[in-house]
Amino acid sequence: MNESKNKLSMEELTSYAKRRGFVFQASELYGGIGGFWDLGPYGAELADNIKSSWWKFFVYKNANVVGVNTTIIQNPKLWKASGHIDTFVDPMVDCKECKHRFRADHVAGIDTNDLKKLDEKLKETACPNCGAKYSFTPARTFQMMFKTYVGPIEDDANVAYLRPETAGGIFAQYENVRETTRKKLPFGIAQIGKAFRNEITPGDFIFRLRELTQMELEVFVHPKQAKDQYDEWKQKCMDWVQSIGLSKENLQYHDHADDERAHYAEASVDIQYNYPFGFKELYGIANRTDYDLSAHAKESGKDLTYFDEATGERFIPYVIEPSVGVERLLMAVMLDAYDEEEVGGEKRVVMRFKPEIAPVKAAVLPLSKKPELSGLAKDVFAKIAGDYNVEYDETQSIGKRYRRQDEIGTPFCITVDFDSLEDKAVTVRERDTMKQERIKIEELKAYLDEKLKY
Ligand code: GAP
Repeated sequence: MNESKNKLSMEELTSYAKRRGFVFQASELYGGIGGFWDLGPYGAELADNIKSSWWKFFVYKNANVVGVNTTIIQNPKLWKASGHIDTFVDPMVDCKECKHRFRADHVAGIDTNDLKKLDEKLKETACPNCGAKYSFTPARTFQMMFKTYVGPIEDDANVAYLRPETAGGIFAQYENVRETTRKKLPFGIAQIGKAFRNEITPGDFIFRLRELTQMELEVFVHPKQAKDQYDEWKQKCMDWVQSIGLSKENLQYHDHADDERAHYAEASVDIQYNYPFGFKELYGIANRTDYDLSAHAKESGKDLTYFDEATGERFIPYVIEPSVGVERLLMAVMLDAYDEEEVGGEKRVVMRFKPEIAPVKAAVLPLSKKPELSGLAKDVFAKIAGDYNVEYDETQSIGKRYRRQDEIGTPFCITVDFDSLEDKAVTVRERDTMKQERIKIEELKAYLDEKLKY
């Protein structure tokens, strides 16, 4: 396993994220609930900024990509057609000694859903919980979609599923989107939204969740364009994750072997991030071929072929799909941004978030709580707040307030002092260099606009 370049272990990250208001255990009051985590004030902002950056990069910057927002609950026929009801399963085993339940592929240390291969490997594997040998039940599959009922009657006719990926709704709306936007191939449909997976063993903080947020893009292409489009989007995804602050040395591609791929994919590659537990999947890029549209055409009886006016060809488009989880990304972004240094003999902790995704863009800090300063500081706050998330803080010493802002990654601290009353200027301190500049209050908004421009 490669040494992670990050300065935080998983325990430290989890505790930091809680202490600084990024991520809290869901239902913590009641002892939590496995695989569910809430975002606190800074985590929610950070996640929104990541989503907004993704949308700008993948939707606004691409003339041939549009966005949708489809429902979490769909007609279950959709999941039958997509293969999720039959094949969205994980292998599971129990230890007969300690009764612990595990993902069979995780315990066996091989990336496969092949039950025979898993059983073979598990014969040589001790239980990670109690150490017992030859103690596993045969591996069996487990349906990962959460089930619910639509309407008041809880019978089989009313069963529905919480979507396991946002892609399903995109495929079901492909024809409506194509018709209404008059898009020609290649074109993409993007969506950001919640997905649900009843993971057997959620864990590693927010890495493996039961409720997650996906950012997915389905690019519909001519089958002959599939290879080039796959390579193009694979590169774009790598460029984007670096643009929001992930360092190159913590990223690598991992091509999937045949038995690692999802049931719908002809080729797939992960962008892996070097988490404290090693390089693991952050982003997945797959060539889903014509699998989905063909399956939906068959199940629904609707014609989903594409007619190419230029060539007179009629065919079902292939799909190239880049898909990433917001929480996995948020975790990577936090790990990469965390830094410690010594300043004046003291440890300074600083989150070096790119300003574009920093949860708080600026903090207004009056040097004293005296009314004449508070009044001016509140005016300064009002001048810049609204377009950005800005904090106002007048408690404790200025040093402590700077430190608090460094720890949540605020790029600019704006100090209002007694001179400000005379010269109508404030001191702006930049987070990374700690350099200070005197800026006229009337020029402050333009100054920040310029610095925060992306
Ligand atoms: N539509 C394709 C799809 O869902 P996936 O590889 O199963 O493919 C895509 O998921 C991305 O969603 C992953 O690369 C990961 O970032 C995120 N993801 C998947 N399962 C997750 C989970 N249980 N918890 C957190 N993120 C998850």
